[in-house]
Amino acid sequence: MNDDDMVCLCFQVTRRKIVQFIRVEKPKRLSQLSQCYSAGTGCGWCRPFLERLMEQTDSDLPDSSAYQSGRRRHIRDKNDTP
Ligand code: FES
Repeated sequence: MNDDDMVCLCFQVTRRKIVQFIRVEKPKRLSQLSQCYSAGTGCGWCRPFLERLMEQTDSDLPDSSAYQSGRRRHIRDKNDTP
């Protein structure tokens, strides 16, 4: 996943924006990332990935297309709307 790829697809928040928010704001809890363009407050798909970004264990994030298809499955499984 590149810096310009969307991590939160519901709110179109890029990896770069999230990493910058974490560096500047130093959130203690995942829920605080909602202050970064509402990241993580939609379907919930990105929350585990946001957590990995917070823990700086994001080196193995999937590539963008795998990530997006995973979210489509997540939405379908939840019978939710994107
Ligand atoms: S992808 Fe982030 S809340 Fe849906």
